[in-house]
Amino acid sequence: MTEKDFIPSEPFTSLESGVINSKAPSNIALVKYWGKFPDQIPANPSISFTLNHCTTSTTVAYDKKSKPSDKASFEFIFEGQPKPEFEPKLQTFFERTSRYLPFLINYHLKISSSNSFPHSSGIASSASAMAALATSLVELERKHNPGMDQEFANLKSSFLARLGSGSACRSISGSLVVWGAHEDIHGSSDLYGIPFPGNIDKVFQDYQDTILLVHRGQKQVSSTVGHKLMEGHPFASQRFKQAHANLKDIKEIMTNGDMDAFIALVEREALTLHAMMMTSSPYFILMKPNTLSIIESVWDFRRETSLPLCFTLDAGANVHLLYPVQYKDKVLQFIKNELVAYCENGQYICDQIGSGTKIS
Ligand code: PMV
Repeated sequence: MTEKDFIPSEPFTSLESGVINSKAPSNIALVKYWGKFPDQIPANPSISFTLNHCTTSTTVAYDKKSKPSDKASFEFIFEGQPKPEFEPKLQTFFERTSRYLPFLINYHLKISSSNSFPHSSGIASSASAMAALATSLVELERKHNPGMDQEFANLKSSFLARLGSGSACRSISGSLVVWGAHEDIHGSSDLYGIPFPGNIDKVFQDYQDTILLVHRGQKQVSSTVGHKLMEGHPFASQRFKQAHANLKDIKEIMTNGDMDAFIALVEREALTLHAMMMTSSPYFILMKPNTLSIIESVWDFRRETSLPLCFTLDAGANVHLLYPVQYKDKVLQFIKNELVAYCENGQYICDQIGSGTKIS
């Protein structure tokens, strides 16, 4: 598929007003996306688990205007309050997507959103927010054009979500999503995420992600700035090659359930992401001392118990602990005994892999 396939060709029937509700999860990358080209094209392919409980719920109320406008007409309410600081990002999203959603000029949109987790804390709140919004807008298109099938609707939602925030395109479907063209993954594309096309070993089917909230405040460096610092980064081309190789390896691991290989690959990816940040110009560190304390404790726990618990990191200080569901009680006990002390206000979120964005 190319960009052109997402430009609607159908003439639209007229709808007056209505409301669409969607709920989209966040996702956690196993092989990370870090570095991009214009229009949100990733510098390397990535793969993520779709989450279940960390979600954004969005209501889009659409109201037909007396005459079409030349640009998107919208208002944005976040957790019950107007949020003017989020409007420029939404404006950019509507500009980038106007070719693909031409009918929007006929409407005023009232977008209301709320998160089940703190925004800008390293949990990808822009991913769930953009996935929810894109899915609602595709649902609005489907109301005009009921012939659109679910598979195409998912691809288009992912395509549009990517234009809002790259990794958002991996939150539409579940439970394991690939985004970025990779020679060994059939159907993979830089334009949208696809469900992992191979078999997933049963050990990964109920995988848990417990997110330790080490630092809930605003990050000092946004991911937009971080991606940009990969331009001219001395290790960029090696890193992009490594991500391709890691995706090839994880494809096998997901199918054969090799836990040791999974742990080594996922932790290496997390540390490589942060190594890129620590070696860019200017350099920066998003981990906090407690992030490192948690990593050391996880390594000790693994040595002592031989349980397959591993960590990954996003662009922030929080730590995602990944493990099979059968070890949930033991891991939660370990968290309560040893790791809660490293969490801001003792807070952590128990999540697990999920199936993607839903319209309700
Ligand atoms: O989608 P963005 O622009 O917020 O970038 C997210 C990048 C990472 O979360 C660090 C990695 C990833 O693949 O999700």
